[in-house]
Amino acid sequence: MKKPKPIAEIASTGRFLPDNVVTNDDLAERMDTSDEWIRTRTGIRERRIAPPEMGAAELGARAARVAMERAAVEPGEVDLIIVSTATPDRWLPSTACDMQALLGCSNALAFDVMAACTGHMYGLSMAEGYIASGRGEVALVVAAEKMSAILDWEDRTTAVLFGDGGGAAVLKPANGSGRGILSSHLQSDGNLAELLYRPGGGAVDPLSQSVLDEGRHLLKMQGREIFKNAVRSMAEACDIALKKAGWTALDVDLLVPHQANIRIIEATAKYAGIPMDKVFVNVDRYGNMSSATVPIALDEAIEEGRAGPDANILTVAFGAGLTWGAMTIRM
Ligand code: ACO
Repeated sequence: MKKPKPIAEIASTGRFLPDNVVTNDDLAERMDTSDEWIRTRTGIRERRIAPPEMGAAELGARAARVAMERAAVEPGEVDLIIVSTATPDRWLPSTACDMQALLGCSNALAFDVMAACTGHMYGLSMAEGYIASGRGEVALVVAAEKMSAILDWEDRTTAVLFGDGGGAAVLKPANGSGRGILSSHLQSDGNLAELLYRPGGGAVDPLSQSVLDEGRHLLKMQGREIFKNAVRSMAEACDIALKKAGWTALDVDLLVPHQANIRIIEATAKYAGIPMDKVFVNVDRYGNMSSATVPIALDEAIEEGRAGPDANILTVAFGAGLTWGAMTIRM
């Protein structure tokens, strides 16, 4: 099979994590759970929780500033801002527009993508298409998630799983060296929406006292069903993305998976034929930050020297929608 030629490359990445660390023991003081249960079922030890006044736009903007500085991109040079978030600061306008104002990127067009945990990959793929069309050269793809704002803190089955954070990447046209996004496979299945959703507070069931009293505006999840679907879909997506890139598992230097649960990560890696020493894991420190997990993990991997120049990266995610996808990138 002919090897694909990258159109766009990741020029830089950045991340931001709020300072406030909440441990499993902290949670056990306010709900009926334990460090042992959370660690053994999920691999999570602690997560970061943003202060009340810090929204998704701010979380993402802080990550974006780091990425822009590393790529030596001035605010006025950014052509496109795509923000993935499941926790927009407001219903109107988009979080991307609020972030644009914070960053001063006055020449950009900005919009949100709502694809839950797979959102960063959807964003990268859309930015790649935009660059391919020749309509712009510098894209800022940001994932900004304040999951603590949409959790039911009375529900131990979901509250212990998530955290807050922001991750970002600057995408530019590939320079012909072979570095860049080689392949992607993105998919969704709206028939399974109710496995992980926020039932109320939108246009069908607008915000009302009864929505608030019953917590219908908060996240609901059928964990077991999500688990099964996640492993199957991520495994398939890895297969397809690898094939499209002309790679096998042996070509992968590092798997950067969505960080929801260590058992899902291990099962996906096993299926993909990638040993755990080639898998990046930080779910223990941050929990599930929805779409922000992949860019934050990639940024940490780069900093640790595990995703340096010419490293072959396979990244994979799964989330509400349902949505899922995988991407191969030569750094
Ligand atoms: N502490 C203690 N006990 C708990 C807790 C908790 N925090 N949560 C649930 N339990 C109890 C349950 O009540 C149940 O008790 P019971 O047997 O008396 O009824 C028992 O533990 C087992 O519960 P299960 O839900 O069957 O536990 P499971 O082993 O399936 O693990 C988990 C639950 C961790 C949620 C797992 O199903 C999972 O990780 N699923 C995937 C979730 C996920 O990744 N979601 C994010 C998707 S990405 C996105 O788009 C946001």
